[in-house]
Amino acid sequence: MRTVLFVDDEPSIRNAIERMYLERDDVRCLFAASGQEGLDILAKEDVWVVVSDYLMPGMRGIEFLSKVRGVRPDTVRIMMTAYADLTIAIDAINKSEAYRFVTKPWNNKELMDTVDEALMRYQLIQSLATEDETVYFTLAQTVELKDPYTKGHCDRVAQYAVALAKAAGLSDEIVTDIKHGSWLHDCGKIGVPEGVLNFPGRLSEEDLETVQQHPRWGSDVARQARMSETVINIILYHHERVDGKGYPSGLVNGNIPIEARIVAIADVFDALYSDRPYRKAYDFDRVIEIMGEMTESHFDLQLMELFRPIAEGVRDNG
Ligand SMILES: [Fe+2]
Repeated sequence: MRTVLFVDDEPSIRNAIERMYLERDDVRCLFAASGQEGLDILAKEDVWVVVSDYLMPGMRGIEFLSKVRGVRPDTVRIMMTAYADLTIAIDAINKSEAYRFVTKPWNNKELMDTVDEALMRYQLIQSLATEDETVYFTLAQTVELKDPYTKGHCDRVAQYAVALAKAAGLSDEIVTDIKHGSWLHDCGKIGVPEGVLNFPGRLSEEDLETVQQHPRWGSDVARQARMSETVINIILYHHERVDGKGYPSGLVNGNIPIEARIVAIADVFDALYSDRPYRKAYDFDRVIEIMGEMTESHFDLQLMELFRPIAEGVRDNG
């Protein structure tokens, strides 16, 4: 059960939060009046997310969260703090005692959204840590549900990327990781609101930035779930371009790990060769032409040469 523990020494605040969650039967809320009480609860309950007050008598919020980190490293930690203490709270986040912070007095929707995102993050980490292929695949399908026009996209990208990785002579172990990484490459989209993801027109600067967070968000989670470097690289770098104009890091040419260069080609090929919300699929010759024009700026030239016969195979098999 999705469980959140709120720790605050003030009863009025605990009551207000309890009332706020009355109608949410998908979340179980636990409350503690001090850090010590919070730790006692954590010792016996399966807590997904902790929201802690910053200034409390006895154990302070930062000390509490760092203890939480020690006993339950996967539990997602959120700090609540008065605006005046913000700089200290940010310091705590930088020391990574907390994943996010919420300022007091809080806005109900903002607090709930932050907690919901933290719950999602926890669930995602648990799924990725299973080392179970079927769980990865199910997860990829869940991401596709958020963005229905991409149905089947992850699986096709995996097929193309695996074929390309084999053609490039990579080892079986790496090829398997590339399959998993391809399925999961957009898992960070779980952290992007649906309204932004499915927005039909041109995105505002701010929304575009949110969408462009998905490689970082996803790779953070994959790292925390202790997935292989190959999988993490695919999630983090699949939007890089060889000319350095990609995101999030602006890496150039060979600095982009080969697994990410492979998936970038497979990802774009499938995007062009299938229907999208705003247009029909391009025909095969047009896809090859567009990708040819993009090669210098976006793709690894040698990998593109290896990909050509694979793409033709896709066309011929309908
Ligand atoms: Fe992506």
